[in-house]
Amino acid sequence: MERYALYINGGWVETEETIDVLDKYSQTTYATVAKASREHVDEAISSATKAYRKNQLSPYQRFEILRNVSTLMKNNKEELAYTITKEAGKPLKQARTEIDRSAETFLLAAEEAKRIHGEGVPVEAAPGSEHRMAFTIKVPVGVVGAISPFNFPLNLVAHKVAPALAAGNAVVLKPASKTPLASLKLAKLLEEAGLPKGLLQVVVGSGSVVGQQMMDDERIDLYTFTGSAEVGLQLKQNTGLNRLILELGNNSPVIVDKEADIDHAAKTLAGQSFAFAGQVCISVQRVYVHESIQERFLETFSEQIKQLLVGDPTDATTDVGPMISVSEAERAETWIHEAVDKGAKVVLGGKREGALLEPTILTDVKPEMRVVCEEIFAPVVSVIAYTDLDSCIEEVNQSVYGLQGGIFTQNIDTAYYAAKRVEVGGFMINDGSQYRVDLMPYGGVKDSGNGKEGPKYSIEEMTEERLIVMNLR
Ligand code: SIN
Repeated sequence: MERYALYINGGWVETEETIDVLDKYSQTTYATVAKASREHVDEAISSATKAYRKNQLSPYQRFEILRNVSTLMKNNKEELAYTITKEAGKPLKQARTEIDRSAETFLLAAEEAKRIHGEGVPVEAAPGSEHRMAFTIKVPVGVVGAISPFNFPLNLVAHKVAPALAAGNAVVLKPASKTPLASLKLAKLLEEAGLPKGLLQVVVGSGSVVGQQMMDDERIDLYTFTGSAEVGLQLKQNTGLNRLILELGNNSPVIVDKEADIDHAAKTLAGQSFAFAGQVCISVQRVYVHESIQERFLETFSEQIKQLLVGDPTDATTDVGPMISVSEAERAETWIHEAVDKGAKVVLGGKREGALLEPTILTDVKPEMRVVCEEIFAPVVSVIAYTDLDSCIEEVNQSVYGLQGGIFTQNIDTAYYAAKRVEVGGFMINDGSQYRVDLMPYGGVKDSGNGKEGPKYSIEEMTEERLIVMNLR
């Protein structure tokens, strides 16, 4: 069995207490990981603080290190993908895509490291300031506390670590305790790529212990967190005046207008509703279909979904693997039963075996059902008929969330009308809510959080603007 240590101050630290990481398909122990104590977390934050203060890396050196990691990821793609498949239960082909995306995220951050700059400020235009000159520079915020989720064990870590390092910060990373292995492998690659000791620390433990300690520690200058709205709120309430980037939940809406290309919409949405068993923050959850095309849409949508292969994630042909745990699959199943008891219909799927939940389509749902108004984070999609676009948009906006959404229509006026009115951080036209490439700004409104990811945008958040004024008299 593989054994992993913590990564503190550039060294690998074993501990007596360990955490078992399950193979999410067989539910047997796949690896053990050292479990961080209070002292380990404290040491990690101290070392990060010292390393940050000593950090002399020039932008070009940061570029080189991050670019090297990107190359190393590509060279180690199969091993990294297999690790993610085992620890997360993510189907191998999706895990491979995640490695490609992570390499891209590091490369984007590398490139951005060379473009961090301030601007000239025309203070000489103020009366009495004729002999002064001013400009701003961007300085790192200091120590970044990164808390990452289980669903993208490498790329959502990359979106936190890579821009933080590109901007000259040090990072204390707490990966999800169900999927910590990819982060520890990333630490090895960063070491190999030449990252000076102390600029990255990886501590593994539960959110309520390690996460809480990080939250309470005033030496952390900025928190970047992806996870539930509940924990996001706790972070906001507990971290005083510190900066925060919060990527929280969503129950992504997509509208299929009467002027949509139905085949294109059905095919695209079938692919985007069930990737990683629906455990993606922008996974399609609510599909609002114009009543005049609902029957045709449902038929094509169901046909597409029936073709998805469900099962062992290590099989390269599998489309839908297990959920992250049996208890999470049970929770989603309970929500389905609850909806059915209140009148919803299961058009497809709905059955569970252990952590495997079949891709499921529901109709006849009501806005107050949990499958609709909360984030289900499971392979379950509700198809909801509507008659009038304005009332549909009103219903879409009743959600407390607003990360990404979309519309399928051939009518550009309708598309733009909806884009301006649906309350989200990103809106896709003729694509599903799940569209994301790593260079784009990514982040939500309302309870979906605040701040943006995407290396260029995160670097904005992870740097301070400092004004420098010269008196030239
Ligand atoms: C997320 O679940 O928030 C990330 C989605 C993605 O990067 O594709």
